[in-house]
Formats: sequence, C-alpha cells, structure tokens
Amino acid sequence: MIKWHQYQVMIEPLAKASNCVYQGFDVLRDIPVAIKVCRRIKRAEKEAEIMQDYGKHPCLPRFYDFFVQDKQAYIVMELVKGQRINCPKGGPVRDPMLAIAITRQILEGLKHLHRCGFIHFDIAHHNIMIENDKPQTVKILDYCGSVRKNAKGIWLTKRRGGTINFRPPEQEQTPCLLSPASDLYSVARLCYWLITRSLPSVSRPFSLPDKQLQSLLGRGMQTESKLRYQSATEFIQALDNWEQRKNTR
Ligand SMILES: Nc1ncnc2c1ncn2[C@@H]1O[C@H](COP(=O)(O)OP(=O)(O)OP(=O)(O)O)[C@@H](O)[C@H]1O
Ligand SMILES: [Mg+2]
Repeated sequence: MIKWHQYQVMIEPLAKASNCVYQGFDVLRDIPVAIKVCRRIKRAEKEAEIMQDYGKHPCLPRFYDFFVQDKQAYIVMELVKGQRINCPKGGPVRDPMLAIAITRQILEGLKHLHRCGFIHFDIAHHNIMIENDKPQTVKILDYCGSVRKNAKGIWLTKRRGGTINFRPPEQEQTPCLLSPASDLYSVARLCYWLITRSLPSVSRPFSLPDKQLQSLLGRGMQTESKLRYQSATEFIQALDNWEQRKNTR
C-alpha cells in the first residue's frame, strides 16, 4: 500500500546503520516520527509485530505503522529524542549513581518487554538512546532480533544474535535457549561500560572501586544463566539496595 501521502521524510537519514532510519512527519497524526527502512522484509515484519504487541511503555518507542513498497519495508514509530548512549565516541565515564539510574530505566523497559513475552536479544550501547543524560528519557531500540516465547512457553532461536562483548555465552550457540537472564547479562555489561567506558576481557579484569557494586554487577554477568538475576525486578531490587546502603554510608 502506498503511504507517502501520509509521511513527509527528511532527505538525510538520522542514522546509517544496518538499516537507515529517517526522521519524518506523520501528516494525519500531526506528529514527528522515525521511519526505519529495511531490506529484509520478513524480519522487519516480525520487528513491527513485536513492537505492536509490546504496546505502550515510557522506555520503549511506540509503534505506529508498517508497510512494504518497492521491495523495502518501512516501520514507522515514535521519534526518540537525544542520542545513542555511546555518543560521542570516547565520551566521559559516568558517575556510578547516574549509571545505576540509567540502568534502572533500561530494566524497567525490559521488565515490560519480558512480561509481554519477548527477549530483546541485543541489549548493547548502540541500541539505547538518552536525551541530555537524563535517566527518565532512556529508550530501548531495535527489536529486529527479538525472540518471542513459543507455544511451549520457551524462548528458542536458531539465530546467532546480539553484540560481541555484550551478549551472554548462551547466545554464542545455535540453537540457543534464552531467558530474561540473557538480556540481564547484557544489562550488567552495559552498566559496567557506563561506569568505566570499557568492558572486562582477558587482558582487562572486571574490577570496580566500589566492591559492593562490583559484586552486584558480577552476579548479573555470571556465565551460568541460573546464577544470574532471574528477572528485571530482582535486578532492580539489588540496585535499590545498593543505593540505599550508599545513601546511609
Ligand atoms: N525511533 C527512533 N528515533 C530516533 N532515532 C532512531 C529511532 N530508531 C532508530 N534510531 C536511530 O537509528 C539507529 C539504528 O536503529 P536500529 O538499531 O533500530 O537499526 P539497526 O539497523 O539494527 O542498527 P544497528 O545495526 O546499528 O543496531 C539507532 O541507533 C538510532 O541512532
Ligand atoms: Mg540496532
């Protein structure tokens, strides 16, 4: 269906990633929008369905429309203000309190997504946006790899996805069996990255000056999924406890 009477689109894309994302204006709804243009139509269709099914949450972009034209798929969604959390490249490290507040917002978004039956599958700094570093503006982007719970009530995928250095060990295998703890592993890595702007590796040990925070994030990053936080709520509770202890010190 041709939809271009409804959308005005900026010539320059907002981002040239695997898919180009443009800023546009929805003339019928009278709102600014973001339009993601995808060559892989089936995959885009799946992404649009997931966005439609997760509905409304302050940490997730609203879905508005999906259509296919000239062998390309278009996902129309809420225009998120701000920038990717990894911009600018080589930017400053974040104070642990701010990093925790940002992480809590990401977890709030994931709590909703998991409850709706989806694993994001690619939580990494390039898929999170924020405006002026205000935690309440955090949005989780990019559902093209997300996995829906199947009829047996499990998250099983044949795809190998996620981002190197952020993805949990189970995502290295195919087929892989996922759980909310898979996304939570990536969140713990992301929180560590926010504080240090680096990621632990063989040559760079996992270490933070605050040892309580180190052990809190260490639990999220356990190799064995069962040893990690099992839900976003449990992870949020651990962050709250850390914050309370810090404020009473
Ligand atoms: N709703 C939105 N509002 C504003 N900018 C957006 C929006 N969606 C995506 N972008 C921008 O486009 C970039 C790419 O979007 P997205 O991650 O969905 O696509 P992608 O092709 O998977 O990209 P990548 O492979 O880099 O993760 C984002 O990092 C962000 O800068
Ligand atoms: Mg992306």
